[in-house]
Amino acid sequence: MENFLWWRDGVIYQIYPRSFADSNGDGLGDLAGIISRLDYLVNLGIDAIWLSPFFPTPDKDFGYDISDHVDVDPRFGSLADFDRLVAEAHRRGIRVILDLVLNHTSDQHSWFKESRSSRDNPKRDWYIWRDKPNNWQACFGGQAWEYDPVTGQYYLHLFTKEQPDVNWRNPEVRKAQLAVFHFWMERGVDGFRLDVFNAYFKHPDLPDNPPKFGLRSFDRQRHIHDIDQPEMLPFLNEMRLLLDSFPERYVVGETYFATPQKTVSYCGPEKLHAAFSFDFTFMDLFFPIFPWNPGWVMKQIVKREETFNAAGIWPTTVMSNHDLPRTASRYARGENDVQSFLGMTLLLTMRGTPFMYYGEEIGMRDIRLRRGAILDPPGKKYWPLYKGRDGCRAPMQWDDSTFGGFSAAKPWLPMHPDFIRRNVTAQQADPDSLFNFTKTVLALRKEIPALRGGAFIPLETPLGGLAYLRQTERQSVLMALNFGQRNMQYSLPGGNWRVALTTAKGSPGKLTAHEIQILILD
Ligand code: GLC
Repeated sequence: MENFLWWRDGVIYQIYPRSFADSNGDGLGDLAGIISRLDYLVNLGIDAIWLSPFFPTPDKDFGYDISDHVDVDPRFGSLADFDRLVAEAHRRGIRVILDLVLNHTSDQHSWFKESRSSRDNPKRDWYIWRDKPNNWQACFGGQAWEYDPVTGQYYLHLFTKEQPDVNWRNPEVRKAQLAVFHFWMERGVDGFRLDVFNAYFKHPDLPDNPPKFGLRSFDRQRHIHDIDQPEMLPFLNEMRLLLDSFPERYVVGETYFATPQKTVSYCGPEKLHAAFSFDFTFMDLFFPIFPWNPGWVMKQIVKREETFNAAGIWPTTVMSNHDLPRTASRYARGENDVQSFLGMTLLLTMRGTPFMYYGEEIGMRDIRLRRGAILDPPGKKYWPLYKGRDGCRAPMQWDDSTFGGFSAAKPWLPMHPDFIRRNVTAQQADPDSLFNFTKTVLALRKEIPALRGGAFIPLETPLGGLAYLRQTERQSVLMALNFGQRNMQYSLPGGNWRVALTTAKGSPGKLTAHEIQILILD
């Protein structure tokens, strides 16, 4: 493939390690489990994997509370297993991206243990300590300050109280954090996903945030002093210099409270390669009135096209991840997959790097838990208003055996009961499955350069339809999607359009119920 750049043209697949594949029968996925499924990923046709944290953790936020950034939690394996995973992935042409959580550590991290031990400990200033709290709120509920009786001061935590925020204004902290990047790049890691990176720096005087209207106390303030501080940019420059001292490394940031405008401001040749804007994951109280529909989707695409194109920044596309209800749970009804086919088409054919979440290729749904079974801290806190994120973190559904081919033992979270029918093995055998559709579109992306790099051009359709071109100087590809039940006609631009893929019986220019067409101009 001509000029194929893995992080721009490829597809990145997110693995939540504890739920992907369990090799040692303890009910928790692990690195060896991932290695055993690499051939599956090659067969599917993805280009890179992003691994959610597998570092040592007391699990107060399921791995996002790290007690050592440069080791592997023994439950997931060892550094030797990790080296083997990188080698095996690379042997198959798959790149490896790690999830770096550097805004905070676990309160069990040696840095924090030292910091809290006394007011004059050399690492005291590695975290943010104050005599009195300001009005900041933790995203997972309650005040962002915890009183520590050992030294009689409060420390800042934007998430759980077991996740103290580090003080990025301290130069030694910055040095130590850069050393983490270095450590993993030396081990062959190809890229990083930066957890809530735009919260690293806080205003030096820690002023109160101004109030605004909102539901939770966290939403009732404007986050102008706890995130998006100007010091972020010089640090991004420094980090990018380090990354560029290794060949073809990549960094994507999780922009905390992202609009497309904010996202692009963090990207560029001396900043991040990319940052997430969660344009297609949005759900709010009005969702039942204005649900997933082509008009809304097109508005989102156009909005982000305008911002990203104007800034010359390459976008990323996300439909699901470990923090959100899965695509199928947001948009589909029951076990019907038509909405998942539409979601998958958009994910893989819009302009930008697609991030696919494990199980999305078989249309996995969220599990439902009784209140007492909820593990996720914000779910415990806000139930029943918000049930937390356990739902989208259930074990991968490989086959119909007792524990779905995920493990030989009872998994840490229950399997979704539909795994008996909805699983990889069953879908591989069914030519009309979402899995085989996904595989076909992934193969088309490889074959057709316009699907990867082509400009995005929206087309007119009747209500309920969505159509667009991806176009280079030499090639045009047309996507037409019918979100509804009714047959519809759309006007084809001139030329001889060949069907590369269709999910039903329509012909170019005509879509039957829920049909998706991909056409190529010969
Ligand atoms: C990010 C992660 C989320 C985690 C939080 C705190 O938003 O995606 O899973 O809980 O940061 O680290």
